[in-house]
Amino acid sequence: MKKINLPKASALTSPNPVTLVCCEKPDGTTNLATVSWWTYLSFNPSMICYAMAKTSYSGEMVRANKKVILTIPGSKIADAVVGCGSTTGRNTEKITKFHVEMQKLEGSAIEVPLHSRVAIQCTLKNFIEVGDHYLYICNVDEVYGNEEEEALFAWNGYSEIRPAK
Ligand SMILES: Cc1cc2nc3c(=O)[nH]c(=O)nc-3n(C[C@H](O)[C@H](O)[C@H](O)COP(=O)(O)O)c2cc1C
Repeated sequence: MKKINLPKASALTSPNPVTLVCCEKPDGTTNLATVSWWTYLSFNPSMICYAMAKTSYSGEMVRANKKVILTIPGSKIADAVVGCGSTTGRNTEKITKFHVEMQKLEGSAIEVPLHSRVAIQCTLKNFIEVGDHYLYICNVDEVYGNEEEEALFAWNGYSEIRPAK
């Protein structure tokens, strides 16, 4: 084996997971951001975590509201997933710009894309500084699934978004 760096390693581990982090903006609408760095943490109690750059708008919103929904986007919205990963909710109304059809989840002000394979509704427990990111550690409130939607993954590092098959 030869010495490589972490970005190169993340290309070698492709396909990597892809989520859309859904959070509430001050005007009550939802912001969507593409996030690969997430994992399950615990089944009992149900917990997950994800890491986002310190500068992300989503991070600012979730640290304030303590509510977030992670979704596994369906293959029909692959282009929107790319768009949500290259624009910020600070100056872009992403749902309108990328024509994402949304649905409501019971008891949540945050909406999620209609084409979602999984939605994990969470409350932020705490967040930890990890280098240039914050690690968001979340308690899971509810989980929703739809087997008819085909999950998306990131290929070649994070440059291509398509299903695993
Ligand atoms: C495939 C893909 C995966 C990404 N994964 C992450 C991630 O794990 N963490 C992160 O901070 N940003 C990730 N990004 C970049 C964010 O989506 C991007 O910075 C976005 O502008 C953040 O939006 P926001 O400012 O509205 O929160 C990813 C982008 C793409 C295209």
